[in-house]
Amino acid sequence: MSELNIQELEKVAEAYENLLAPALFAQWPHRLADAADVDDGQDVLDVACGTGILARTLAERVGPDGSVSGVDLNPGMLAVARRISPGIIWSEADVETLPYEDESFDAVLCQFGLMLFRAPEVVLQEMKRVLRSGGCLTVAVFGSLEDVPAYAAIADVYERLLDKSVGDALRMPFSMGDTDRLASLFDSAGISSTKVSTHKGRARFSSVENMILADVKGWFPFAGIELDQDTIEAVIKEAEIALKPFRSASGAVGFPVQAHIVTGSKS
Ligand SMILES: C[S@@+](CC[C@H](N)C(=O)[O-])C[C@H]1O[C@@H](n2cnc3c(N)ncnc32)[C@H](O)[C@@H]1O
Repeated sequence: MSELNIQELEKVAEAYENLLAPALFAQWPHRLADAADVDDGQDVLDVACGTGILARTLAERVGPDGSVSGVDLNPGMLAVARRISPGIIWSEADVETLPYEDESFDAVLCQFGLMLFRAPEVVLQEMKRVLRSGGCLTVAVFGSLEDVPAYAAIADVYERLLDKSVGDALRMPFSMGDTDRLASLFDSAGISSTKVSTHKGRARFSSVENMILADVKGWFPFAGIELDQDTIEAVIKEAEIALKPFRSASGAVGFPVQAHIVTGSKS
């Protein structure tokens, strides 16, 4: 976890919730819940829940007779999640050691976390451990960077103006787009009946500036990257050029994104 104090972590998490989530993350939870067949009365877990975007949809699905738990390492994300949905059971923990008994949940889901984990195969085994027999394990990851040229272009801008590590912080979320690798990760974790489906989505930012600020305020500080105002302005100027093919007359930025949803079961 980064060096930020809890107030700073919460501020970054607020920016994630307000700037990044509506543009990129909020369009997937119903698709994951459908893939996992989440239904009334179930006990379900959202792994690496962030501000709770997926958990909130799961809570609507399971209703008052079910339960939703969310777990994340970042107390800032959890503070925002708790404020929005106090009725969900939030826990702070590393996903490599989930704080639940074996076989606690009917479904265990993870939206856009797997590519950030140090040992994804360990996390899948841990997700399987807390899943009841017959239950569904569901993971979503973004497709490859070559399918999202707008992010590839922005990553190149950062690399040109700053250094490779900043570009890589933007590339990393798109590093698990290889569906064969995903299926084999599920296999090695002993998860059966694995299925991978690819879904089309769309990223939408109201301006180039807001697209840049979404990462600068809502993601980079978690990766230990802080940029000064002059640098941010220089990045926005270069990004206006690099993102020209994705801008509409109003100045909004929009482009297709892909996600792979992987499901498997515990026999
Ligand atoms: C890209 S965000 C996705 C959050 C949320 N699932 C969503 O769709 O908006 C990734 C999340 O993974 C969490 N995370 C990364 N590594 C983790 C770990 N080892 N244990 C717990 N959470 C972790 C981060 O704190 C962050 O909230």
